[in-house]
Amino acid sequence: MIGQTQVKCADCNGTYASDTSLSTCSSCSGLLSVEHDPDTATLKQLFDNRATKIGVGSTARERSGVWRFRDIVLDASDDAIVSHPEGNTPLLRREAVAAYAGVNGLLIKHEGHNPTGSFKDRGMTVALTQARRIGARAVACASTGNTSASLSAYAAHAGIPSFVFVPEGQVAGGKLAQTVAYGARTLRIRGDFDDCLRLARDASDKLGVYLVNSVNPFRIEGQKTIMLELLQQLEWNAPDWIALPAGNLGNTSAFGKALVEAHRWGLINSIPRLLAVQASGAAPFAQSFANHFAERISVRAETRATAIRIGDPASWDRAVRAIEATNGVVESVTDDEIFAAKAVIDQCGVGCEPASAASVAGVRALAARGVIHRDERVVAVLTGHLLKDPGGGPESDNTALTTDEALTLLERTVATAPNRR
Ligand code: F0G
Repeated sequence: MIGQTQVKCADCNGTYASDTSLSTCSSCSGLLSVEHDPDTATLKQLFDNRATKIGVGSTARERSGVWRFRDIVLDASDDAIVSHPEGNTPLLRREAVAAYAGVNGLLIKHEGHNPTGSFKDRGMTVALTQARRIGARAVACASTGNTSASLSAYAAHAGIPSFVFVPEGQVAGGKLAQTVAYGARTLRIRGDFDDCLRLARDASDKLGVYLVNSVNPFRIEGQKTIMLELLQQLEWNAPDWIALPAGNLGNTSAFGKALVEAHRWGLINSIPRLLAVQASGAAPFAQSFANHFAERISVRAETRATAIRIGDPASWDRAVRAIEATNGVVESVTDDEIFAAKAVIDQCGVGCEPASAASVAGVRALAARGVIHRDERVVAVLTGHLLKDPGGGPESDNTALTTDEALTLLERTVATAPNRR
């Protein structure tokens, strides 16, 4: 065992050393979870001191918005850590987005500011660090595009060969370009994400390739830091709600675990309610929530928000626990609602990829129904950068002009523009 960290099965309580390469329990097949036993008296002070040391000259452990929280993530040594670095993403306020959502003080946590443009980097830095600690010879994942881009970048940095399985024709161009450019062996599969994940899990069982999808418990530990960093930015005053897009349910699980632990260890006084938002064509978790999680559901997924085009989410049980522990809500929104929210986010100069806008669309839906009150403190997480998937929005006027026509157009626009002095 390394340090105070243990890996446990959340279903049968089976215990593993922290250098395990398993994602699922060898006796009951439940998903594994990393458990810590920190010195809670000093935790907040420790994190706040480290937050001041993100300048040049500090180590990756200090600069990274993930490794700053290592005591409750993975206490790896400096030379084991594979970091670009990541995290330290902005918390933004944009009046237009708040007005659109119908919540006065809405804040946006933009995870598209990570090194490869999505929140996946926070999980991947921990998964590749663990891959290095256990001496993995190769790493693999299935992906709708962001996980593969992140894996490819972090595996390149670690010097470990990587393989990705992506559904043919269903991955946005920016994500595929990154995955190939950083050097992962990219296998396009005739099937959907759910087929790709089954293949990745099989390959890892049979060939011993280290699996870094979010079923990997160390991915979850890294993604918890979205919440920890957000709470730190809010000076440990927990908001009322946190909204996020939900696909394979890794992030929903990570957020729930982070919030419950932060409360248990005295970092916050109350637990925010999670709002997990799915696209209505890929909403098995929302359907099950509507029926009090009476049964696990899988669907054939269809949505233009390709990042969350997932019909059989892998982290189901732990996401149920996350929703229950946070008195959370699972909602679904249509593709039109997602793209309408994205347009508002884009047009205030922030921008995000389609799936990310589901969080804001979900807040708007719940505010309209009065479930979220307009004076509550709400944070919507944007999970990916606009350039990941620039298609699908309103068509730009792509008629080319002569230089004379352009000048005339400009003259007319300037003449009618209001004087802003
Ligand atoms: N938002 C974006 C931009 C994503 O890429 C994903 C998942 C999600 C939200 C949903 O998160 O799966 O933890 O519920 N993308 C995965 C991938 C599936 O392969 O990149 P989740």
